[in-house]
Amino acid sequence: MPKALITGITGQDGSYLTELLLSKGYEVHGLVRWASSFNRQRIEHLYLDSSPYKDRLFLHYGDLADTGRLEEIITTIRPDEIYNLAAQSQVRVSFDLPEYTGDVTGLGVARLLEIIRKNIPAARFYQASSSEMFGASPPPQNEDTHFRPQSPYAAAKVYAYWMVRNYRDGYNLFACNGILFNHESPRRGESFVTRKITMGIARILAGKEKVIRLGNLEAKRDWGYAPEYVELMWRMLQQDKPADYVVGTGENHSVKEFLEEAFDYIGLDWKDHVAVDPVYFRPVDVNELLADATQARTLLSWQPRIKFKDLVRIMVDADLEKIGLQSPGAGKKVALEYGFDWVKG
Ligand code: NAP
Ligand code: GDD
Repeated sequence: MPKALITGITGQDGSYLTELLLSKGYEVHGLVRWASSFNRQRIEHLYLDSSPYKDRLFLHYGDLADTGRLEEIITTIRPDEIYNLAAQSQVRVSFDLPEYTGDVTGLGVARLLEIIRKNIPAARFYQASSSEMFGASPPPQNEDTHFRPQSPYAAAKVYAYWMVRNYRDGYNLFACNGILFNHESPRRGESFVTRKITMGIARILAGKEKVIRLGNLEAKRDWGYAPEYVELMWRMLQQDKPADYVVGTGENHSVKEFLEEAFDYIGLDWKDHVAVDPVYFRPVDVNELLADATQARTLLSWQPRIKFKDLVRIMVDADLEKIGLQSPGAGKKVALEYGFDWVKG
């Protein structure tokens, strides 16, 4: 039975990847941060007594800032594959916490690579790199595009990216960078713009809120569907050779277009329910991201199935249902048609 360690297992991607690996027969270990409030909602269904997977899922307290503990966990488990999804992943927050973001999102990767090099050099390593690294480089962006990071978060991810390349070239580690463009889902963190909008819509319809306060509405992102993207993380580690891959849909939209699509879907005009609040502006923002994922399409045989309109509908449906309202249902229907698990989002 192959063994995987997932850092960031409690996050959006960690939860979907855990489901995927368990369904493939892996023994899955997850690094969990200690927190005074419950932070395992996204994976709770997998370890309850009712779960068919509960005997193959193991959680370990740890932190990417704590080298000794990381070493203890990794040398005890000796995983075949390590997926590093943990990060301080909020770009806006990275401007407030530049040092902490550098420590966790950047140096955390150096810690992991050193432990692997010294103890389990045959293990395969996936690094959650980000399209944010391209920053000010004009679109479309692919594996050859220069990085021009526009935030402490992006700068930390660029450092981590190059550490992966160094350990691959210098020590022959099987280490890959998945340069993923934005990917969303009903499990997306509530401070990211897509989820903030779809939750805001649900609250407005439930009469709990009147407006959604947002920042820059002009930024364009290449938004894909997270459950599809975690499949690619796994595929990258199953190739004969390690490499870096850009992953995105090849289609981008502005935040304004996301608002239009989401509010149209429930028959309201977004302009009546959105206020621009400078508090959400960033000192510097990334204007436009658009993936050229030709390499992933060819080498990993991948085509995105869920595109923008369906993604928006899936997220709106899910948030309406979570708040106890009836959803229009078109997004849910598409998710089910493609075989994605609706009940757990
Ligand atoms: P997420 O939902 O924010 O999850 C981040 C995870 O990292 C959470 O499990 C969090 O734990 C954990 N974490 C944070 N600080 C940690 C620390 N010091 N030690 C250990 N764990 C820590 O992020 P995501 O959307 O799933 O993204 C997964 C990864 O892909 C991240 O590295 C992100 O930067 C990167 N990425 C994401 C996207 C995207 O569009 N989603 C695109 C490109 C790259 P808690 O639950 O306790 O907070
Ligand atoms: N979060 C947020 N909140 N963003 C807003 C808001 C708001 O109220 N209003 C406008 N935006 C704009 C941001 O300025 C940004 O241009 C865009 O919406 C997307 O913001 P986020 O959803 O926070 O995502 P991100 O693109 O900054 O970062 C996400 O994607 C990266 C990949 O490109 C994160 O998941 C990163 O971890 C990831 O690496």
